[in-house]
Amino acid sequence: MTSGQIVPATPENIAAAARRLAEGGLVSFPTETVYGLGADATNDKAVASIFAAKGRPEFNPLIVHVADRALARKFAKFDERAEILTSSFWPGPLTLVLPRTEMCPVSKLASAGLPTLAVRVPSHPMALALLKDFGGPVAAPSANRSGSISPTAPMHVQTSLGIDAGLILAAGRCTIGLESTVLDLSEEKAVLLRPGAVTQEEIEDMIGPVDVVFDNPDAPKSPGQLLKHYAPNTPLRLGAVDVRPGEALLAFGSIKFMGIVGGGAAKDLPAERLRNLSETGDPVEAAANLFAMLHDLDKSGAESIAVMSIPLTGLGVAVNDRLKRAAEGSRSDG
Ligand code: TXA
Ligand code: MG
Repeated sequence: MTSGQIVPATPENIAAAARRLAEGGLVSFPTETVYGLGADATNDKAVASIFAAKGRPEFNPLIVHVADRALARKFAKFDERAEILTSSFWPGPLTLVLPRTEMCPVSKLASAGLPTLAVRVPSHPMALALLKDFGGPVAAPSANRSGSISPTAPMHVQTSLGIDAGLILAAGRCTIGLESTVLDLSEEKAVLLRPGAVTQEEIEDMIGPVDVVFDNPDAPKSPGQLLKHYAPNTPLRLGAVDVRPGEALLAFGSIKFMGIVGGGAAKDLPAERLRNLSETGDPVEAAANLFAMLHDLDKSGAESIAVMSIPLTGLGVAVNDRLKRAAEGSRSDG
């Protein structure tokens, strides 16, 4: 079976798709809402390849799909509201944003470096079969190229993504055809981030009033813009061509010839102050490492983090976008 090929969601093909996920590959699969472009959520490189396939100019956090609530509880902290809502609406088109558990193995790239995780259990029988077969969490945005409309039939996926769709498991049209409702329960006040088939009224009947951000005229239009962005506490210095005393280095490509101001070579920095996004200069590898390495260097005790420049090609665009936001965030937060 080749990438971009549409195959019926038979038990054999679902098993093959689960193996593909385990190997770090991509699988497009049906859900009751829209077709998703899935990857092993614990595999940084596989998650990075989702962004590469979609051609997203920025890293928005992705929804993590699991087979059941017990598994979801391993990755996200459930409070009483989450228990109440999921006992009624899971499996189904409701995504909850919850705090990540302490040992959560989901890629930091999947939650864009945030301390929260968006999780849902879809109700489509073929999605559930795939998730059960695979056994782990599957990160999946809608299976379309960035900027085009969400796919509700296998042909839409193939037309939009071509060979970048991975294996396309087909099960006809999606019954709902609209992305899931996204509800943020990570703070005391529940916030509806995206409307969907589970309505505000249904949610409020169970947990009381929720805030709504998407139809507030003062709020920015795109859901991505409503997001809080990850920012390290340590200031970032972008476009660095050397390392200053007291700095850590987030490198990209070779640092053989890079020096430390005042003397010394960058390659001899203490291990906790040096990370290389990709020694070979691969932007997909850089994306896979980005948030984990920023977190590491933020904890290193350095006064600032020197960041080498990353070319604006492929996923480099998204990596640069996120570094710029992180640099601004770390400055304005002090
Ligand atoms: O119906 C759906 O939910 C589909 C199918 C495939 O399941 N998936 C989907 O995923 O629409 P995606 O990645 O296109 O949408 C994710 C939404 C975005 O609006 C994103 O901003 C929000 O969820 N989101 C994800 N993680 C978040 C987080 N940690 N905090 C706040 N919002 C988050
Ligand atoms: Mg989408």
